[in-house]
Amino acid sequence: MSIVLLKTFHYLAILFAGGVLVGGGLIHAVFNRANQVPDINVSKVLKILGYLGLGALIILWITGIFLSNVIYGGFAINTAFTIKIIAAAFLLIISFIVNIHVYNSSKNQQPPNKSIMKMATMIGRGLILIVLVAAAIAFN
Ligand code: HEM
Repeated sequence: MSIVLLKTFHYLAILFAGGVLVGGGLIHAVFNRANQVPDINVSKVLKILGYLGLGALIILWITGIFLSNVIYGGFAINTAFTIKIIAAAFLLIISFIVNIHVYNSSKNQQPPNKSIMKMATMIGRGLILIVLVAAAIAFN
């Protein structure tokens, strides 16, 4: 696969992962402030956003692994890059956990746990910021 194509998908996936964090976080914040639980349709949207976020992270990993190997011959690029992939790994783990939690709660016809969702959104935002700053430093 060409480097240009890999980079395009890497950037597209960043767009999706960021959009999910901002959009999903905003929906949760608005409902929390109103002391309400999202209705069935909004819950569906949140569930789909969760899947999109996880899909975007998986695409970031696949394209990122190829880019590292094709351009730099491996993962030993620099310290900032190491920090970037460690933060990206935590982001992937959190996304898996949240998606499993949301899937299980919807199967049991229960709303997802508020504190888990709030914490995951906050940590997710922090981690994506770390990944982006680390990427800027690593490839500067
Ligand atoms: C949340 C996950 C990720 C985000 C937000 C992200 C973000 C970025 C950004 C913004 C750039 C552009 C940097 C620049 O060209 O100045 C970039 C490039 C790159 N990313 Fe990622 N990335 C993520 C995950 C990964 C992973 C998991 C890997 C490797 C396993 C990876 C490998 C790379 C490589 C090698 C480049 C540089 C390509 C080049 O030299 O132009 N990325 N990433």
